[in-house]
Amino acid sequence: MILVLNGPNLNLLGTREPEVYGRLTLEQLEEQVEAWAAELNTAVILRQSNYEGQLIEWVQQARAEGFTGIVINPGALTHYSYALYDALLAQPLPVVEVHISNVHAREEFRRRSVTAPAAKGVIAGLGPLGYKYALAFLSENSR
Ligand code: DQA
Repeated sequence: MILVLNGPNLNLLGTREPEVYGRLTLEQLEEQVEAWAAELNTAVILRQSNYEGQLIEWVQQARAEGFTGIVINPGALTHYSYALYDALLAQPLPVVEVHISNVHAREEFRRRSVTAPAAKGVIAGLGPLGYKYALAFLSENSR
């Protein structure tokens, strides 16, 4: 069972900078991810929060909740949250970091991820498909 976390402002998908993030709403993205998980015979639970502390608590509890891997799009927390980085490091499950946009083709500050060193891998710029490939990886590489 894989935990898929979306961080701050991802609840605005669909209306937020559609030229960067596309026109799918978070709800539509989540339905799509559930369909991909079903194809992979993998169970997923999807959660979104605008609050750093909530995301940290979900990460801390993931193993005890029975998850086997974590897909996380930390939103802008990617670029500065050492607290989220520490939470990812402190837990045993494999993590894949996903970004809908190509963070390397945008503002300079987006090129640095402080959370990525706690992940097995990072997918950026492939739109919603990034979540699919992250799930595919974790469904084969989970504990
Ligand atoms: C994002 C990229 C981040 O830089 C940004 O702050 C987001 C979304 C992405 O999915 O492309 O909120 O993580």
